[in-house]
Amino acid sequence: MNKEYEKRRQKLARIIGSNGIAIIPTANTRIRSRDTDYPYRPDSDFYYYTGFSEPDAVMILAPGRDDGPFVVCLRPKNPDTEIWDGHMEGLNGIKRNFGVDQSFKIEELENILTSLFLGRQKIFFTLGQDEILDKLLMKAFNASKAGQRRGGVVPTEIVSLEPLIHEMRLIKSKHEISLMKRAAKISVDAHKRVFRNCAPGVYEYQIEADIIHEFGMNGATPAYTSIVASGENACTLHYITNRDCMKEGELLLTDAGCEHEMYAADITRTIPVSGSYNQEQKKIYELVLKVQKDAISSVKPGQTFEGLQSQAIRGLTVGLKKLGILSGRVDNLIKTEAYKDYYMHGIGHWLGMDVHDVGVYMDPKGKSRKFQAGMVLTIEPGIYISKKNKNVPSEYRGIGVRIEDDVLVTKKGCEVLTQKLPKEINEIESIMAKNN
Ligand code: GLY
Ligand code: MN
Ligand code: MN
Repeated sequence: MNKEYEKRRQKLARIIGSNGIAIIPTANTRIRSRDTDYPYRPDSDFYYYTGFSEPDAVMILAPGRDDGPFVVCLRPKNPDTEIWDGHMEGLNGIKRNFGVDQSFKIEELENILTSLFLGRQKIFFTLGQDEILDKLLMKAFNASKAGQRRGGVVPTEIVSLEPLIHEMRLIKSKHEISLMKRAAKISVDAHKRVFRNCAPGVYEYQIEADIIHEFGMNGATPAYTSIVASGENACTLHYITNRDCMKEGELLLTDAGCEHEMYAADITRTIPVSGSYNQEQKKIYELVLKVQKDAISSVKPGQTFEGLQSQAIRGLTVGLKKLGILSGRVDNLIKTEAYKDYYMHGIGHWLGMDVHDVGVYMDPKGKSRKFQAGMVLTIEPGIYISKKNKNVPSEYRGIGVRIEDDVLVTKKGCEVLTQKLPKEINEIESIMAKNN
């Protein structure tokens, strides 16, 4: 596995060049309340190049350096801290186990940067993420200028590193894809558990607990707070209250995905609480499903989010018109964005170490970026009909449906990583019939 991180560092080193130096900090610990922290998660960019998950660490990449390009400043081993918080790699461990060429104490970061800046022209660093680190870097930058007075080369530019890293992260390696497949599988199993346990009288938080149980039993955690939205709660796009009791005749929209070894899945299914969809729910569901399947079959290299979104908007608008929910000429309904009362979000997003993963959506000319093999994205159209919408026949009000799968772009088309989770009406109804 160290080889994979090394290859990534080598690629980054080629991008920044031998007169550049890159600095990538990990995430800070965060206080939840008083002396209780949130569970620690390393920064995705930092982890992508190091595989190292302790806090208080900064990676420095200095291509062509005599003592090796890969430098990390970190917490030195401390037996007292280890009694409370467990194993620390320390300065030697990180060299032994993570392929680090040279390690220093985190307290020495400013001096190390000052000396490493000498002889480099460009500093690659993303400003504005951590005020303390920004200040420290500026101090080192200014201190290194003393070297200039002695006739040496010192940096003259600070270049944002984020776009370069994010461009790399956008195309997934074989290893990353295998981790994402595992995250998808665990998440599929969690949704299957929801299919089994969903029933009138069950609380949304109990369904959430089921999901977390399945994730936890497989060593995974939620990649984001699960949306467990019964009835009209499904029309609140980011509903995470998850406190209501499910009622006969309602739908349950569950948007949940796990993070497994730093990689996320993101799945939504919308199922009938009492086991079968009523006529109106069925019509809305079938429309969303058709649009979702059409979008998935259009995913291939060269396709764009904009292309998929336009196709989805047309499909949904035509469908809503057929149901009598929209009326008028389709082209006009699209032009006036009439569909936005019912479909008000994008068709999908990049997926990877972060659920809304990094990578630009536009190319340098401002056009929607073309898909390439190795990208992973979600496809997630939906229809949400507010209970308050008096323009719609009352039977449709309060229905919210979204269907979301995770898709890998391949050379010839795509592979659906979450394929094994049923989404056809007859499949879902027959699974749920077994619950009774
Ligand atoms: N679960 C967040 C999203 O679907 O974008
Ligand atoms: Mn999503
Ligand atoms: Mn989602």
